[in-house]
Amino acid sequence: MDEATPDRGRRNFLNWFLGTSVGGLCVAVLYPVIRFVSPPEEPEAATNQVEAGATNDPELVDRGFKIIRFGADPVILIRVSETEFRAFAATCTHLDCIVEFQKEHERIWCNCHNGEYDLHGRNVAGPPPKPLEPYEVNLASNGPSRPATIVVSRS
Ligand code: FES
Repeated sequence: MDEATPDRGRRNFLNWFLGTSVGGLCVAVLYPVIRFVSPPEEPEAATNQVEAGATNDPELVDRGFKIIRFGADPVILIRVSETEFRAFAATCTHLDCIVEFQKEHERIWCNCHNGEYDLHGRNVAGPPPKPLEPYEVNLASNGPSRPATIVVSRS
């Protein structure tokens, strides 16, 4: 009988144990690094239309506007009258601040540098170099007894 047999078994076990431990450690360290360096391709879901609530939304009635999410983009929805709504990209064309609607002055205003747009999104004062991107607004009827739903879509 060979005296080295128990040592060989122990050696094989240690080799296996260390090999799998080192392999596991390498996988545990390298996998997150590789995932970080090359994130999976995930196509951004294209948003073409968003429901922005009812025409009698208290925020719209009280403040005259609200900011909605259009996919990843902020959009300002303005209540011009009881039946007329307009929507524009809410990102100022100067340095990307979020604009707001000033009901009392009937203007879209950017408080970062006092930029001003009219109710058609045209830049009329201050540093904004171009108009706000318009969005299309339609009202979807919910029957005679319920307020319509505001639907915003890309122009
Ligand atoms: S970011 Fe709007 S005016 Fe400068």
